Amino acid sequence: MVARVSTVAFQGIEGVPVDVQVMIGPGKINMHIVGLPDKAVAESRERVQAALHASGLAMPPKKVTINLAPADLPKEGSHFDLPIALGLMAALGAIPADALTDYVVLGELNLDGTLAPVAGALPAAIGANALGKGIICPADSGPEAAWAGSGLDIIAPRSLIALANHFRGTQVISRPQPAIRAAPGDLPDLADIKGQESAKRALEVAAAGGHNLLMVGPPGSGKSMLAARLPSILPPLGPAELLEVSMIHSIAGQLSGGKLSDRRPYRAPHHSATMAALVGGGLRAKPGEASLAHHGVLFLDEFPEFSPQVLDALRQPLESGECVIARANHRVSYPAVIQLVAAMNPCRCGMAGEPGHTCARGPRCAADYQARISGPLMDRIDIRIDVPAVSAMDLIRPAPAERSADIAKRVAAARERQRERFEGAGMGTTVTNARCSTALIEKIADPDPGGLQLLRDAAEKLKFSARGYHRVLKVARTLADLDGKDRVSRIHLAEAISYRMAGERLAPATA
Ligand SMILES: Nc1ncnc2c1ncn2[C@@H]1O[C@H](COP(=O)(O)OP(=O)(O)O)[C@@H](O)[C@H]1O
Ligand SMILES: [Mg+2]
Repeated sequence: MVARVSTVAFQGIEGVPVDVQVMIGPGKINMHIVGLPDKAVAESRERVQAALHASGLAMPPKKVTINLAPADLPKEGSHFDLPIALGLMAALGAIPADALTDYVVLGELNLDGTLAPVAGALPAAIGANALGKGIICPADSGPEAAWAGSGLDIIAPRSLIALANHFRGTQVISRPQPAIRAAPGDLPDLADIKGQESAKRALEVAAAGGHNLLMVGPPGSGKSMLAARLPSILPPLGPAELLEVSMIHSIAGQLSGGKLSDRRPYRAPHHSATMAALVGGGLRAKPGEASLAHHGVLFLDEFPEFSPQVLDALRQPLESGECVIARANHRVSYPAVIQLVAAMNPCRCGMAGEPGHTCARGPRCAADYQARISGPLMDRIDIRIDVPAVSAMDLIRPAPAERSADIAKRVAAARERQRERFEGAGMGTTVTNARCSTALIEKIADPDPGGLQLLRDAAEKLKFSARGYHRVLKVARTLADLDGKDRVSRIHLAEAISYRMAGERLAPATA
């Protein structure tokens, strides 16, 4: 007899249905797993045998064959332990064979028969719900699975024995409840920053339109401080965004305690990060920092210190909104709609261009350092600003600074204008000006005659690439949104062009 249990294999953030087939038959005593298992799946043989033994179930002295169908789909991860163990238990008659037909099963086993939490419970539960099935998963993954829907049947036991007792009717396992991550204490506030009014303005514009931002300035001018305060002015995630973001974090095993939060992700990887850490991949396909920052901010401090290959790997996600990873025999993609925020010193010693300082290595110091950022990557950064050292006057007797909460209100209003506009154009609710298509931006950011003249002159003088031209239009549209204006005018374009010019001095933009 063949016992069957449904489970999933993850491809990107999607769970592809997998059928675990267990057959106990005559032959040499052995247990085989077939169907393209990776190392973790192959090892599940040892965990399953030990866990069944610990739960008081003896393995039969027969040949056990386990097939993971479809056979040509690669299976990765440790969550196949539980479906394999349940398949065996059903084949041995320890649980009723038809008890499992209405469930998708995933979970890792400890040697003592208890269940360990696994990555991906949320997307698996969403997939199960779509199929009209329930889900069986470890107790610690339960609160995460509970987000998939209030009608979803969830059994989240602590151990194999508890599950067997549940099926026998001698023990009831209650349904887990979805948990919300309590908003951690107050975020750092922009009011802490003295002076730097133009940098704060640029941060507000970047937040309002979801634009990529580069801050260049000497050490200690407050660049890292400014970036750390961006989350305090960003609007919360919408319901659809929240689910998408949580699915990625679930696949990466980063939803602590299965709790979800509507705060926008903010990821700040160290500059020693590898390609796999940043865009995903590695031994087991896993989302990288860029995907973990989906619908949020990826902050790269000390921008030129990242390896050039790693930085250039970001070009593709910045353009397409997803990270595509080539595996041995298939491709995996993870969503990565990100706002890139970067900070750098103007040169290695950090003081190039500062009044009263001369660089020992002369202009080459700055040129070499800045050349580490490739032209095409620089071209994708809409807003580039100089953050000069904060003046002594500002430090000693600062003007009263605006609080993040007030700035966040203006950002939210500008985002609301974008949402209405893009929803009207049938583009969904999650589009920002920065991600709007080029055809649409030409329509919605149509400048008045004065603005058009300015744009024409600037494009000619500064030799904008086509991408650069469209990015200026996008920033100008955001500035008009912050202003509450329907039409993009000369002052909006002037400011948008000035954000572009700071960068033209930095590195020649080539598309
Ligand atoms: N504008 C400012 N207002 C208040 N403190 C500042 C400001 N700029 C810098 N600082 C102080 O300097 C420290 C270093 O700032 P940081 O943001 O790390 O600089 P950077 O990243 O530009 O090198 C901060 O921790 C803060 O104490
Ligand atoms: Mg810094």
